[in-house]
Amino acid sequence: MPESQRVAIITGGGSGIGAAAAEIMAGRGIRIAVVGRRLELLNATVGRIAKAGGTAIAVQADLSDPAAPQAIIRRVAGEWGKIDILVNDAAYIKHVPIHEGTRELFDEHIAVNVRAPYLLIQAALPYLKKSSAAAIINISSSSGSLAIPGQALYGLSKAALEYLTRSLAAELAPFKIRVNAIAPGPVDTPIHLSWAGYDIAGAYERMIREVPLRRMGTAAELGEWIAWLADEKASFVTGTVIPVDGGQTLPGGNSRIAQE
Ligand SMILES: NC(=O)c1ccc[n+]([C@@H]2O[C@H](COP(=O)([O-])OP(=O)(O)OC[C@H]3O[C@@H](n4cnc5c(N)ncnc54)[C@H](OP(=O)(O)O)[C@@H]3O)[C@@H](O)[C@H]2O)c1
Repeated sequence: MPESQRVAIITGGGSGIGAAAAEIMAGRGIRIAVVGRRLELLNATVGRIAKAGGTAIAVQADLSDPAAPQAIIRRVAGEWGKIDILVNDAAYIKHVPIHEGTRELFDEHIAVNVRAPYLLIQAALPYLKKSSAAAIINISSSSGSLAIPGQALYGLSKAALEYLTRSLAAELAPFKIRVNAIAPGPVDTPIHLSWAGYDIAGAYERMIREVPLRRMGTAAELGEWIAWLADEKASFVTGTVIPVDGGQTLPGGNSRIAQE
């Protein structure tokens, strides 16, 4: 194993967008640590990467635990002695109108979607500072900039993640650490099971209606952008939030579709 081979941590790497990014980046020679709660999903990603000739490990952790970030960084640094890339992809989502919101739901969105990325970045800093090609990629959402009823908690957590991206891009630039975000629109992944319940077909239909390209994105399409931002070819890109959303957040995009 060449010492120069880069190391990436990808939270949420057991499924959806995180798993796709893990496989694409492993295919480009990056060693991957996938993080999540369900070990069987993480092991499945690790297995697919190994089968394709790549290197990966599974790190089981619950990111709502404030002690998890330190433990994750210790585990990965202990395995490979370096960390070059951090992808904050894991997220919690619950659709709740404000009259049904609770302090617990508020805290869970902040804990997983904002606090964990912040603490992971902080814990990874000593390693990222030593890397010659350090990159942090935060996975936001179009919900961070659209006004969607019932998504106040998820949306505000993603808006906070975008602010964190811009603020830390400026703060960490002197260390040559790039910090960027991707804001996906509707993507076909298991995440929709957690809020749409059994009416997945109906939820997909409603989401597709909001997308000028008139389809859901694929996890692989998002994974490609994550891999690109992690790549040294993106070396002059920092502090951006890139919408990969089929045009969902185009100003006036929805009304133009509605008039057809
Ligand atoms: N799919 C979309 O339409 C869409 C749109 C906009 C933004 N996004 C964003 O894209 C990212 C990836 O989502 P996805 O669509 O790929 O959905 P997904 O397949 O459900 O992935 C979410 C991942 O997060 C992990 N996770 C959730 N809570 C966790 C916790 N407390 N600790 C550790 N890991 C946790 C889950 O693994 P475990 O359950 O095993 O822990 C899962 O692998 C998220 O940030 C999401 O907000 C998705």
